[in-house]
Amino acid sequence: EYMRDEKLSEECKMLLPHLPKTKGWVGHHLYKYEGFWHNNRHLDGLLSYQRHFSANDGDVLLVTTPKSGTTWLKAAVFSIVNRVCHPPGSKNHPLLTENPHGIVPFIELQYYGSMPDFTNMPLPRLFSSHSPVISLPKSVQESHCKIIYLCRNPRDTFVSFWHFTNKLRTQAGAEATPIEETLNMFCNGESLCGPFWDHVVGYWNASLKKPDKVMFLRYEEVRAHPDEYFKKMAEFLGCPISEEEKGEGIVEELVKLCSFDHLSNLEVNKTGTGKFGEANNAFFRRGQAGDSANYFTSEMIDKLDKVTYEKFSPYGLIM
Ligand code: A3P
Repeated sequence: EYMRDEKLSEECKMLLPHLPKTKGWVGHHLYKYEGFWHNNRHLDGLLSYQRHFSANDGDVLLVTTPKSGTTWLKAAVFSIVNRVCHPPGSKNHPLLTENPHGIVPFIELQYYGSMPDFTNMPLPRLFSSHSPVISLPKSVQESHCKIIYLCRNPRDTFVSFWHFTNKLRTQAGAEATPIEETLNMFCNGESLCGPFWDHVVGYWNASLKKPDKVMFLRYEEVRAHPDEYFKKMAEFLGCPISEEEKGEGIVEELVKLCSFDHLSNLEVNKTGTGKFGEANNAFFRRGQAGDSANYFTSEMIDKLDKVTYEKFSPYGLIM
């Protein structure tokens, strides 16, 4: 049923026939817009987001490539910026009863098929997005809103994505796609919001150009040193963790609240569903760095690493 409810705008319907088109991973098509591949629903939301979103200076955008740790980043930033009204150790913390995707909306999905009203959102307004840097609305580029970009090494991102889309495929009654076939599409850049590498390079360059506006994070690094990166995120967002808070162990509490083991074992994330009927547990699988080693042959590694080297080395990006 995924992607069947096409409430596409006239603008999107008119545009689609003019865009390059390829087969997507879940059974719908992908369309190339501004150099990146989107499914029709995502593109519809993106077009409307580009046209209508008005960013405020205090807004925070959490941008990721799919399966790079969006769920975790949403939990982390929400709990960091709201730590006074929602202390991380509190028994009524929103993250205990709601999935992070229910707390921090995906902006493209909000704009798909309707015009969202963000006027009553708690401040700072937090949004998430998979939009490539080139497709960001003007107001995002021109305002003082902040962007935290989280990426993940391409091997693990790919494996996580392959699992996720196969889950959607099999739920919809289709066959799972073999890993080699999906890897070929990924290496050709044909994945949701791909080419993966171009997405990463776009935000990498933006972070070098405007380090006060764009923070560039890697999943593996945050996973290895969460305390350090939670502190860095708080600083970047203008709400640094004070010495007093550090003394009270607040950093450790925030990290623990958002950890894979904690979130994935909450009832809401084990059995709950999201706004579109998606199972919350689909966003929690293993939550490890390096799981791709369990799925890749050496040929597959060579193939993927070659693309990564070609795409990243001109920019000094190592992953
Ligand atoms: P794996 O499939 O490798 O386990 P996204 O949130 O962007 O959809 O990414 C999903 C990936 O992030 C999945 O990776 C998922 O398990 C992992 N993940 C979810 N919550 C996490 C958390 N709190 N800490 C670390 N990883 C997390």
